[in-house]
Parts: sequence; C-alpha cells; structure tokens
Amino acid sequence: MLNQKATLESIKRKFDVQEIRKDFPILSVKVNGKPLVYIDNAATTQKPDVVIESMKYYYTHENANIHRGLYFLSEAATQSYETSRMKVKEFINAMSASEIIFVRGTTEAINLLSSSFCKSGMIKEGDEIIISYMEHHANIVPWQLVCERNKAKLRVIPISDEGELLLEEFEPMINEKTKIVSIVHTSNSLGTINPIKEIIKIAHRHGVPVMVDAAQAIQHTKIDVQELDCDFLAFSGHKIYGPTGIGVLYGKTEYMNMLPPYQGGGDMIRTVTFEKTTFDDLPNKFEAGTPNIAGGIGLGVALKYISSFNFDDIQNHEKKLLEYATQRMLEIDGLKIIGTAKNKTAVISFVIDGLHPYDIGTIVDNDGIAIRTGHHCTQPIMQRFNVSATARASFGIYNTLEEIDIFVESLRKAIKLFR
Ligand code: ALA
Repeated sequence: MLNQKATLESIKRKFDVQEIRKDFPILSVKVNGKPLVYIDNAATTQKPDVVIESMKYYYTHENANIHRGLYFLSEAATQSYETSRMKVKEFINAMSASEIIFVRGTTEAINLLSSSFCKSGMIKEGDEIIISYMEHHANIVPWQLVCERNKAKLRVIPISDEGELLLEEFEPMINEKTKIVSIVHTSNSLGTINPIKEIIKIAHRHGVPVMVDAAQAIQHTKIDVQELDCDFLAFSGHKIYGPTGIGVLYGKTEYMNMLPPYQGGGDMIRTVTFEKTTFDDLPNKFEAGTPNIAGGIGLGVALKYISSFNFDDIQNHEKKLLEYATQRMLEIDGLKIIGTAKNKTAVISFVIDGLHPYDIGTIVDNDGIAIRTGHHCTQPIMQRFNVSATARASFGIYNTLEEIDIFVESLRKAIKLFR
C-alpha cells in the first residue's frame, strides 16, 4: 500500500450557500416544472461536480484493476485509490491508513464487524451486546443474527419521549458478559445527537469496546476517532456528498488484527494452498475481490470538498436551517415533531393530524420537493412513538431558508387538500 501524505484542504472557503449551490449540478434540475427542493439529505446527499468529474476522470484516464498490475494504468489507479484511503485517515484522524477498510457502506461495515466478531469466538452463549432504541436496522439486524447464531443476548438502551438516550440506564446494563456496545452517533429518524464520547468512556471503564455508527454524523460534525477513542466507526460515502456503494469501517489496529476476515478471495491473501491460506495484513485482509475503485476515488474527493469548509460554518448554517424549519413547521396546526432532543442535527421527522405521511410526500413532490416518508429503517422508533410512519425533512449544506418557506407552503396546501 502506498503511504504518501494526502492533504485535505487546509485553506478554507467562505461559506456562501449560493456559491455552494453552483457546485451541485442536480440543484438546477426542474421537478414537475418547479425548481428542485432537495431535503432528503439523511437518505443520501447530492454530489458536487468535483466528485462526479473525478469518477469520470478515473474511467476515462486510469481505469485498471488495483494492486495487481505493473503497468502504468494499474499503478495510476492504485495510487488514486490509496490516496483516497489516506484522505479518509486524515479526515477522521485515524492512527494509520491501514485502519481504514473500504466497504460498500455503513451496512456492510456493521455486517463485517458483527460477522468477524461472531467468527472470532469472542461472543459465546449467554454473552450480551448492547445497542440503543434509536438504531437504524443496519445496527440492529446484524447483531440480532450474531445473537441467534451464538445464543447471545441483545440489550437495548431505552430512550425518553424527547428521543434522548436514558444514559443513567446504560452503565447498569454493562456486566462481565457484555462483549460490545454498538451505538448510533446521530439518529436518522429523530435527529438526536448522542453523547458518544461519554458512552465510550463508560463502556471503556468496563473494558468493553464500542462501535459507532456515524452514518448521520460524518457530514454534520467533525469526527476524530482518536479524540473519541472509539474502537470502530462506520460511515457511508453517499451521505457526505460522495458516491453510493462506498463506505468505511475504521477499526483500531489491535482489534482488526485479532478479527478473522469477513470474505475470502483475491487481494486479501498472502499464500494459498489447498491445505491452508494465510491472510494479508490490514487493510487488505478485509478487502476481498476487486473493490469499488471509482467510488473510493470519488469518496476521497468528497472529503476534500467538505474539508474546504470550516465545520463550524457548516454547523452554523445547518443549525439555522433546523431552527427556522422547526419554528415554521410548528406554526402549522396539527403538526407534531417526533424527536425533540436538545442536541439535534438538521433532521425533522413529523406527522400531521389527519394526513398519512405518504400523502404528504406525494403532495410536496408535486411542488418539486423531495422528502422521505416511511419508517426510515427504524421500526422500533416508530413503535416507541406509536406511529406507523413519519415524513422527514433533512437538510444539507446547500439548503436555504427560502426552500424551507416553499416546503411549509406546500405542507399547508397538502392539509387543505386532505382535511
Ligand atoms: N438510512 C437512510 C435514511 O435514513 C437511507 O433515509
């Protein structure tokens, strides 16, 4: 693996939302004859030109398989891909680039970890795994499968009516049987930002490793894995203005060396005979087969793009959007926000009396507005709040206050039509 230093942007751009919008070609698309208002950023974010171009550049000038050829194109592709790994390392401040495993996304990252944990013999009959009530299905089902296979028990940290973790209930849940805590940093359906550093500290006091699902955090806040001291962390490229089909599992070297491979195949081995295979070092041990090379390159460019801003500016902008949207939406009679934590990201799940969330979604779509409706892959949250589904608006760096006004007007129109 190449180990040169890949620099992310150190000179920061002024945060000017109108200028930022010009970086995203899709924002000039018209939907139903209206300008697109894209406020489904928790589902996926749009891609800036530089990301789209980088992938086109790879396919036009460098397309070859990586780690395999001695010829020009293969070396160029390897260099671009491995430079991206360095960018991820810098972006999350990992100790080493070999702690960065490229995967398809957060879901695959958690499946990799849970499956390797399961195979490692670290989870035995009667052992316990702790998650929380506000997990995405991707951080529930893989652990449930582990529990079924190994006869272990899944324990769930409860939440309050505001959608905040009941932290005082967490520490008493930990005992000598607890093998891992796998917890979401920021909830995709409630917007709650969890006190993740405190959770890690508590778990570590008992010698329990912590996996952080950062799928909804990475694009909104500065993540520093050494500062957090998390043992594992996962995120997806497509939620941080990068391509789909690429994501990252970060793992501390000591754990990743201990865990067995997830998949077998090319690129992850050192020697193979019919009797025995020996595995390559990190990160290759966990990256069997030809990876998503273009996606990896695009992700590196997306991280460079987002690093061209101060995270404080991003947070201030998104906070303004969250506060304005919350205030405007609460002016609507019969609208209820699900998830009212004090520390929230720019995600608003809501229901409106007398309207099904799918009807809301359809009506606003007529006005060119993209929101998500449904259970948001968090069915236990829907059960907790006694709703079958919600509508959800989620904001990103390119959204504006004017778009929120258009959205609120469209909601009023939906109410008039359906009530
Ligand atoms: N997990 C993504 C969402 O919350 C898809 O919409």
